[in-house]
Amino acid sequence: MTKKRLRENYMLKEQRKVESEVFDKETLKSLAKLIKKGIIASVDFPISTGKEANVFSATTPSSEHVAIKIYKIETTPFFRREEYLEGDPRFTKIKKNNKDVIIAFARKEYKNLQICEQAGVHAPKPFYCERNILVMSLIGDQGLPYPTMNVQGPRNADDLEILLQDIKKMYKAGLVHADLSEYNIILGEILYIIDFGQGVVIKHPNAERFLERDVKNILNYFAKFGYKKDFEETMKWTRS
Ligand SMILES: Nc1ncnc2c1ncn2[C@@H]1O[C@H](COP(=O)(O)OP(=O)(O)OP(=O)(O)O)[C@@H](O)[C@H]1O
Ligand SMILES: [Mg+2]
Repeated sequence: MTKKRLRENYMLKEQRKVESEVFDKETLKSLAKLIKKGIIASVDFPISTGKEANVFSATTPSSEHVAIKIYKIETTPFFRREEYLEGDPRFTKIKKNNKDVIIAFARKEYKNLQICEQAGVHAPKPFYCERNILVMSLIGDQGLPYPTMNVQGPRNADDLEILLQDIKKMYKAGLVHADLSEYNIILGEILYIIDFGQGVVIKHPNAERFLERDVKNILNYFAKFGYKKDFEETMKWTRS
């Protein structure tokens, strides 16, 4: 093979690799749609690459920074997710195949963020949802995200109060986060809750159990830093 041919082969292979490992074809199409619709102008750099989703810093046509979360269609095992979709009356008609479940998750996170916005919960503002891509406000500065709580640790008792109030506001609005931990809290001037894909409405048969788990996670974490609150009392207050 000639050098040129070898290089062409290599480029093709790399391109395919990028398409399959970073953006699958459908995701690329969805990104193109978002650009065409004027929702974003560019995808700038990755903020987080995870098992289930990748989050990128992106820019809008009016030069504002936003976060886009791209749920991975190809690689996510969906058996773990089903518990959170089944029993949620908003998502009863979802077919049981991987792609549809993932797309439903993006939509679910978008809807849950809308509930948070209405309820005054500190969370990213939802801007748009296209297939498996969620566009939301970026909690950070100049396109760079603020750290999550697991990195920085809680700062004061106010952090715990704000968090518990947000959990209560959500519950009053009929929503339970269901995956709350120090990993899904971003520390800006104030703290923000993120990652609402697994959030369920309180009609979900396990909603109360998820609420208790969320509160327990938070109280246990803060207790390690000396901020202690009684679990039973906090639960009573949350439900009141
Ligand atoms: N709106 C946002 N603004 C700034 N940073 C964000 C935003 N949303 C997510 N991030 C960053 O991206 C990371 C991953 O986001 P998120 O928790 O929503 O995804 P995930 O479902 O946990 O992904 P995975 O489980 O695959 O790692 C967060 O820990 C946070 O650092
Ligand atoms: Mg997370």
